[in-house]
Amino acid sequence: MKIAALLLDWYDKNARDLPWRRDKDPYKIWVSEIMLQQTRVEAVKDYYERWIARFPTPGELARASEQEVLTYWQGLGYYSRARNLLAGVREVCADYGGSMPEEKEQVRALPGVGDYTAGAILSIAYNRRVPAVDGNVLRIFSRLFCLEEDILKAPAKRAVYRLVQEQIDRDRPGDFNQALMDLGAMICVPQRPRCPECPVRELCLAYERGVQEVLPVRSPK
Ligand code: ADE
Repeated sequence: MKIAALLLDWYDKNARDLPWRRDKDPYKIWVSEIMLQQTRVEAVKDYYERWIARFPTPGELARASEQEVLTYWQGLGYYSRARNLLAGVREVCADYGGSMPEEKEQVRALPGVGDYTAGAILSIAYNRRVPAVDGNVLRIFSRLFCLEEDILKAPAKRAVYRLVQEQIDRDRPGDFNQALMDLGAMICVPQRPRCPECPVRELCLAYERGVQEVLPVRSPK
């Protein structure tokens, strides 16, 4: 079987039950992905639920004051994320009638939305086959394909982006990307990966060669 099929079978049985996975509303996915940029899943859950209860739609958020919006972010840190989200939602209301655009370039142009976040939003909310490459995905793919390039540098990132494009599931790209997030959080962790439990170990070159603990390569900062 291919990576996508094995990964999705595993995801169907093991996916984490997270509040932002109950809904494909692009605004909600956007909020969750911004919160998750620099904050751990466990810490985000309650903030996300409070935020969505108070600002359930882009319109509700766009009409709120920055001062109020910041109180709902209080404790998450990196407050520019909240300011960008507010500015972004106001753009979506002004330029797109309140619905999130569907083209990658348009999503990427929103403040605070980088390549990873645009990929996550488009794949999860709109089922578009767009990679969402973060540190987890770089680690997983450098192990699967035994890539020895420095994952902090552009050539390795480009190589991984292309490999994800080749492997991403045709029918369930959002679940494919989220399965990688869960695999990276639960199995293919940075130290002592739990290879015996891994759904794709039979396809993993690093596992075959016994080098999963020395990959990925990262240059000293
Ligand atoms: N980290 C970033 N995005 C995530 C998501 N959608 N699910 C779980 N962890 C994540």
